[in-house]
Amino acid sequence: MNFRIEWHDRLGSTNSTLRNRFYNQHIKDALLIAAREQTDGRGRQQRTWISPPNGGLYASFFLETHAPLIQIPSLTMALALAVSDYLNSQGIRAAPKWPNDVLVGEKKICGILSERVEQELRQGIIVGIGLNINMTQAEANEIDRPATSILVESNQARSPDEVLKELLPQINFWIDRWKNGGFEAIREIWTEKAGPIGKPISVRDGDLRQTGTLAGFGTHGELLFQTASGVETIWSGDIE
Ligand code: BTN
Repeated sequence: MNFRIEWHDRLGSTNSTLRNRFYNQHIKDALLIAAREQTDGRGRQQRTWISPPNGGLYASFFLETHAPLIQIPSLTMALALAVSDYLNSQGIRAAPKWPNDVLVGEKKICGILSERVEQELRQGIIVGIGLNINMTQAEANEIDRPATSILVESNQARSPDEVLKELLPQINFWIDRWKNGGFEAIREIWTEKAGPIGKPISVRDGDLRQTGTLAGFGTHGELLFQTASGVETIWSGDIE
């Protein structure tokens, strides 16, 4: 993709800005909106994404595609692979975690939020990336789940602009793979990095929490969860 990048000092949410632009203007494929600060950063399941000035990369891009809703999870997973490869190239031992996270050990460093947009003849997916860059450990501790940043992991502050520039080739690589083969094209590497199969996991969906083991991933990247009563297919939820 040939990204056209627009930087803003401060936005509510880069996902929401791009979404509004999609519905109100004719935006082009690969428009990427990034903000140095978000005042209303959004995560999955109505969570807030803490987005202090220059604390991280807050960026969303528009991918024009007719891919149906069912293919969104695997696109999000392809993006998690892009971010984890990028972090590995920087000497940070990161790995993707189903469905949309990148972790270092047990701590979250990146989350991805994909949303489908559709209007008459045009449709596509907005992909939002939140990558913690310059958050100190004290700031990360204020997040309600274990979190980390590039600064904490590498002792180096980085500019979000530079991180974005370095990350784009990885994003292009993984999106091309996804475009050419959907989840099947990323299954092997995803399973290797987010697995291994057989590892004990707990899955939480709302108030429901079940324990079992990872049985693998389905055709579209859905989680296959081995419980005492058989293999369940999980489309949304959190692994704990
Ligand atoms: C999650 O882990 O729940 C997903 C977090 C996604 C955060 C990013 S930051 C850029 C983009 N704009 C938003 O409001 N959210 C995404």
